[in-house]
Amino acid sequence: MTDRYAVVGNPIAHSKSPLIHAEFALQTGQDLSYTALLAPLDGFSVTVNAFRAEGGKGLNVTVPFKQEAWKLATRLTERAQLAQAVNTLKFEDGEILGDNTDGAGLVRDITHNLGFKIQGKRILLMGAGGAARGVILPLLKEYPALFAIANRTPAKAHELAQLFLVHGDISSGEYDSLAGCHFDLIINATSSSLSDELPPLPAGVFSPRSLAYDMMYGKGLTPFLLFAQTHGAEQLADGLGMLVEQAAESFFLWRGVRPDTQSVMAKLKAL
Ligand code: ATR
Repeated sequence: MTDRYAVVGNPIAHSKSPLIHAEFALQTGQDLSYTALLAPLDGFSVTVNAFRAEGGKGLNVTVPFKQEAWKLATRLTERAQLAQAVNTLKFEDGEILGDNTDGAGLVRDITHNLGFKIQGKRILLMGAGGAARGVILPLLKEYPALFAIANRTPAKAHELAQLFLVHGDISSGEYDSLAGCHFDLIINATSSSLSDELPPLPAGVFSPRSLAYDMMYGKGLTPFLLFAQTHGAEQLADGLGMLVEQAAESFFLWRGVRPDTQSVMAKLKAL
């Protein structure tokens, strides 16, 4: 019998996940279906439980339900526990396993696809919301030389630094405090690109061999990537690679098979 998976969110119509997972299944010969599931804003758990009761094997979870999924899971991976957000649910042995593959997807895109070694580098993470929180542990596990979080509301950055203290040293503050500092990897985990804005980042933060990474993606460069290009970043990347890599991590969790992501990325870029 074909195993059923889906991505659940609200809105969900524009999700690329069904296309990505269909490609993965085809490529690896896995017998599965993957659809998009719209859950009412007040009906996430009802939607998940119905899907599970009908024999569904797993779900990806997207905006705005990642925190609810974290609460719904009966077992959590360490990275999901710390992220306080879940993007992957796996139904097995009467349990709901919650994982968060976003950070692993980001790290894999940076290290594998973009060929950028994080170990020993200076990282700046912009933003202190759910998207930022989800990627901190996997980034720390790559042993950067320095890790800084900047946020418009500095208290939220300080909170995250405290929370992850046992996993690594994180400096935190507002954007102004970055004046005179240089970073090798600057990641935009804010939602500023959605409103076509840019965090108040001092222009001098890019070092000559720096990679500027925007977790958002779309047609053309985001305001952050345009700013980075103008102010000396050597390499620019948007979040399309992360999207495909986090999907591959979920696929691996569910099926135990690692799909090839390059061909899928090429297809998405051509759309
Ligand atoms: P997400 O789940 O996408 O992280 P979120 O939890 O609402 O969404 O967090 C949004 C993040 O983007 C926050 O860090 C927010 O900064 P504040 O904590 O100060 O609100 C940041 N953000 C959004 N718009 C921004 C802008 N125009 N400039 C700078 N930071 C911005």
